[in-house]
Amino acid sequence: MVAWASAPPYSDRKACEGVRDFSVYVARERRGHGFGKLAMEALAAECGRRGYWKLVSRVFPENQASLALCRALGFRDVGVYHRHAKLDGEWRDCLIVELLLSSSF
Ligand SMILES: CC(C)(COP(=O)(O)OP(=O)(O)OC[C@H]1O[C@@H](n2cnc3c(N)ncnc32)[C@H](O)[C@@H]1OP(=O)(O)O)[C@@H](O)C(=O)NCCC(=O)NCCS
Repeated sequence: MVAWASAPPYSDRKACEGVRDFSVYVARERRGHGFGKLAMEALAAECGRRGYWKLVSRVFPENQASLALCRALGFRDVGVYHRHAKLDGEWRDCLIVELLLSSSF
């Protein structure tokens, strides 16, 4: 497998049932060749077909590849969660991103 992307529910609240929390991962040796974008475009298209209206996630601000991928796909920066994750004993901020799936409107 070269890449995968998933979009489980963001929340179990009925009002947010069309919001999905995406993840994407490309095999290390295959990065930078368009596979992440391809996987995310397919995921967004399928989510739109299913009537979901938004993809969201949280990205470490120093994750340049992930931020570039989100921006190339039209994601918007929503804001920053401060002290959101603890990695190797260190507090980390997370940038919140969202993409409205226009095919759902
Ligand atoms: C983030 C990730 C999925 C990107 O996948 P990828 O296949 O390498 O990305 P693509 O080749 O499709 O590139 C998509 C865009 O990002 C840009 N980009 C990719 N890697 C980049 C990097 N390291 N620095 C700057 N820009 C980068 C590309 O130029 C492209 O932009 P463009 O369409 O405007 O030309 C991949 O790096 C990865 O699996 N990282 C580890 C897991 C992770 O961080 N997942 C995201 C959090 S859920």
